[in-house]
Amino acid sequence: MHHETVVSVSRMRALDHHAIASGVPGRLLMEVAGHGAFRFLSRVRTSDQPITILTGGGNNAGDGFVVARYCAAAGMSCQVLAVAPVDSLPDGDTRKNASLLEAFSVPVATCDPEALVRCLADSDIVVDGLLGTGLSGDVREPYRAVISALNGSKRPVLSLDIPSGLCGDSGHVLGSAVHARWTVTFGARKQGLLIGDGPAHTGEVTVVPLPFPPDAWTTSP
Ligand SMILES: NC(=O)c1ccc[n+]([C@@H]2O[C@H](COP(=O)([O-])OP(=O)(O)OC[C@H]3O[C@@H](n4cnc5c(N)ncnc54)[C@H](OP(=O)(O)O)[C@@H]3O)[C@@H](O)[C@H]2O)c1
Repeated sequence: MHHETVVSVSRMRALDHHAIASGVPGRLLMEVAGHGAFRFLSRVRTSDQPITILTGGGNNAGDGFVVARYCAAAGMSCQVLAVAPVDSLPDGDTRKNASLLEAFSVPVATCDPEALVRCLADSDIVVDGLLGTGLSGDVREPYRAVISALNGSKRPVLSLDIPSGLCGDSGHVLGSAVHARWTVTFGARKQGLLIGDGPAHTGEVTVVPLPFPPDAWTTSP
């Protein structure tokens, strides 16, 4: 088991690439990640208020769309607020998972300031699928404003993989970062969760194992 393994962002990317090159579809990795986060979410949920899922434009958002699908399938009320509109997403796993939500009747709205304030006010838990390990440089608008509204709302936040705005390698806050109550991290702990500003932002960290071939851990650089 690799619950205690700590990886850099590039090592994590190498593990993903190795798995995909070995025939494990990237879409399957996203499914397992999102399902694991959903299972954690259903354990810590405290009320019937809706789950709000905030998404950005990368694979971290894809994980969030999978969480939304499982919430809907389980009969939980949920809504997605997308900072990057779904029709602006490049073709790929994230977009496919966003498109699937229609069949599950999950509302996906644009994350404008008004919708954000309204949704945060009546949410149970907010899922942070804004920015993951693909973050580079200081968080830009409108993400910065969304993070600030989220932190100001005092809603309990479950961050996917890493709190948005935290550097996965150094643990430094890149301009602004989500304060999570829980972080469900995928495959292995990212080193930024454990050092720098990481521990002050992650809340309780749980690892969801991904279906990597066993040799991925020894052969990836
Ligand atoms: N197979 C899988 O399921 C799998 C594999 C690996 C990772 N993941 C998940 O996906 C995450 C990594 O995915 P990813 O590499 O696609 O990246 P990401 O963490 O989803 O972030 C990429 C997105 O963030 C934006 N971005 C980057 N820097 C920014 C900044 N400073 N301010 C505002 N926006 C910024 C990018 O926009 P621009 O391109 O416009 O800069 C892009 O839309 C992981 O944390 C994990 O959650 C899933």
